[in-house]
Amino acid sequence: MNIKASTKIYGIFGHPVGHSLSPVMHNSAFKALHLDSVYVAFDIQPRDLESAARAIKPLGIAGVNITIPHKESMTFFLDKISPEATLTGAVNTVKNENGKLLGYNTDVGGFLRAIKEDLGLHPNGLKVALLGAGGASRAVLSALCMNESSRIYVMNRTYDKAKRLVSEFKKSFKDFSIEAVSLEDKTGVENALSISDLLVNATSAGMEGIDPIEIPLESLSKESMVYDLVYKPRETSLIQRAKELGLKASGGLSMLLYQGAESFEIWTGEIAPVEVMKKVIE
Ligand SMILES: NC(=O)c1ccc[n+]([C@@H]2O[C@H](COP(=O)([O-])OP(=O)(O)OC[C@H]3O[C@@H](n4cnc5c(N)ncnc54)[C@H](OP(=O)(O)O)[C@@H]3O)[C@@H](O)[C@H]2O)c1
Repeated sequence: MNIKASTKIYGIFGHPVGHSLSPVMHNSAFKALHLDSVYVAFDIQPRDLESAARAIKPLGIAGVNITIPHKESMTFFLDKISPEATLTGAVNTVKNENGKLLGYNTDVGGFLRAIKEDLGLHPNGLKVALLGAGGASRAVLSALCMNESSRIYVMNRTYDKAKRLVSEFKKSFKDFSIEAVSLEDKTGVENALSISDLLVNATSAGMEGIDPIEIPLESLSKESMVYDLVYKPRETSLIQRAKELGLKASGGLSMLLYQGAESFEIWTGEIAPVEVMKKVIE
């Protein structure tokens, strides 16, 4: 890496960020396209987010990704926010365009491209059982609502959180069939699964160190598919169980890749070298 005075600086704001795959993914893409740019990780404590955000312009940082726990708070320090990010209530990408900070949420497009490439699915008319009511679930819900999925069940351990999320989205999508389901409601979960074309796990359950959710996958029809946003481990027990039942299933590495590719394209205006990026994160 040849860093010069002219080198453009990109990075990620998060806490912790030590294990983020974004630096290797973006640096490999810059290298492949011979761009004079570098991507670094900034470990930003929540109390320091405002100063870090305010420093982007004077330091001339060209763009940043935003990750846990700053995706929502970062929206307060931007000049303009995209429709996807506004609906989701969170940004994961910021572009410094001539001194204006523009916010985007590429998790939305990343999810859409992942289910298209991995499972051959388009959200239009799809019936979806969505596990989780946190930040990732909000991005998936935005993607599904903006593309007219026909029915969505938001299933969460903390039922109140699912209900709040559903009522918030119903304000923007009045005629949509979106329903909250408690994970403790066995019958409700089984009914939702039996109707759904796609089950999405947008909880942290199944991540390394967190037990998977016991979900009755047998209630899904044989044509249903499963997408798990978790990518560590690469193949979660949810994906393994789905495959054992003969269902088409895929893990979250593809969403990570495509959200990164979209950020890269927003920043550089170049088509992201997806194969190169995929190889390094794999
Ligand atoms: N592939 C990608 O590109 C990508 C992008 C974004 C996020 N993700 C992944 O998505 C996951 C969720 O991220 P997030 O930002 O949404 O986190 P978050 O805002 O903290 O939300 C976590 C969600 O997981 C649920 N949950 C956590 N542990 C659980 C358990 N043991 N059993 C049942 N539910 C549990 C929580 O339920 P309660 O409300 O009941 O607490 C909540 O709905 C993480 O694994 C993250 O790495 C992947």
